[in-house]
Amino acid sequence: MTKYIVQGGKPLFGEVDISGAKNAAVAIIPAALMVDGVCRIENIPQISDVTMSLRILERLGAVIRSINPHTVEIDCTRIHSTRTDYELSRKIRASYYLIGSLLGRFGQAEVAMPGGCNFGGVRPIDQHVKGFTALGAKVVVEGGFIRAFTERGRLKGANIYLDVVSVGATMNIMMAAAMAEGLTVIENCAKEPHIVDLANFLNSMGANIRGAGTDTIKIQGVDRLTGGTYAIIPDQIEAGTYMAAVAATGGQILVKNIIPKHMDCITAKLIEMGVEVEEHEDTLLVRRTGDLQRTNIKTLPYPGFPTDMQPQITAVLSLAKGTSLVTESVWNSRYRYVDELKRMGANIQVDDKTAVVEGVDHLTGAPIQAYDLRAGAACVIAALAAHGESEISGVQYIERGYEDIILKLQALGANIRSVEVDEEDAVSVRIG
Ligand code: EPU
Repeated sequence: MTKYIVQGGKPLFGEVDISGAKNAAVAIIPAALMVDGVCRIENIPQISDVTMSLRILERLGAVIRSINPHTVEIDCTRIHSTRTDYELSRKIRASYYLIGSLLGRFGQAEVAMPGGCNFGGVRPIDQHVKGFTALGAKVVVEGGFIRAFTERGRLKGANIYLDVVSVGATMNIMMAAAMAEGLTVIENCAKEPHIVDLANFLNSMGANIRGAGTDTIKIQGVDRLTGGTYAIIPDQIEAGTYMAAVAATGGQILVKNIIPKHMDCITAKLIEMGVEVEEHEDTLLVRRTGDLQRTNIKTLPYPGFPTDMQPQITAVLSLAKGTSLVTESVWNSRYRYVDELKRMGANIQVDDKTAVVEGVDHLTGAPIQAYDLRAGAACVIAALAAHGESEISGVQYIERGYEDIILKLQALGANIRSVEVDEEDAVSVRIG
């Protein structure tokens, strides 16, 4: 088991390069399966969810060639199965995108019920199913698999109104419709940057998708997608996490290789909290020298404040002057990490979807546990800012979505390292 050991209390200084977006990559890799040819994907983040997605594709018959650590070529001309590996695909949430891509290209798909981060509450996929059904598929659950198929061999375009704004349903239906017969119109779509990225990827392979990034997406189905080259956008949430880290510790960092427009919803809140943010073409200079001020945050679909930054910003607010209110309105429950922050001295009360955060003067290092990816990021931020040593367990969740987090933080001057511990929790081998 791996743990992170953090000696907190050091301000961060330096530069950090942001990797490709996880939530774009985990959709674009399954979408590559629809391409009858070779597609080269650049700016792929090296994270475990991506490794897992590529492995699932390989088992279906894709030939994958690594060109360099961030570029792969995927050849899906000889897919020999439409049933995904059960053990692999149940490990990641994004395996549900294989339903859209397999169904779109082959008219059938069998995918294990998706797993992924469990931050409490249910994570339904009824809107995905509603979309596939509207496109003419039958969807059943059998033996732990979701089986979707169409008797006519090809889906048929339709008008689909989503009852909830869902990132996953928008992308999954977009994939399935890309090769359906005729026009599909999806209304009440999510507008996250990775939705635009997936549409751009599919269009660069020959799809005809318009309106991604607005709440109505129109997809004229095509017969075939052919190969090409595509570069994934930078990760908005990874960038936001480093911005939150310097807000918590103080210091000054240059966040590089980003699209500043994607960061507006996060930047605006940090500025309210007294953080200085200077915008350049593809970088942000983030500085915090004075006290952190309180603010209120409500998570919303893009362009609102992202739910995937809620735990990290709450960790920062736990050190702000005054009382802040944080309201989670995307997920039913996403506050499991709060108990970990409380172990460090944070004063936070959660009532249903709202956290009341009473700022404290400082946090104190403690043994804490990451229960999911963003909760893990919040633990790291709190530990970096705390007085004394923290030991973070559950770091496999963090590594699902943050490439080289230890090396990137060390380059900013953080005292953090990764250690391997044996079953009795004794530290045995230092690895980072
Ligand atoms: N929802 C439904 N029915 C559905 C789908 C969603 O009721 O069929 C509800 C959900 O329960 C939730 C809301 O709609 O309350 C939004 O869910 P959404 O479908 O947008 O989430 P998702 O696609 O499953 C992606 C990201 C999450 C991120 C959310 C919201 C991926 C692989 N995951 O999940 O990312 O929190 O969008 O932005 O893209 C993360 O990166 O840490 C993460 C959890």
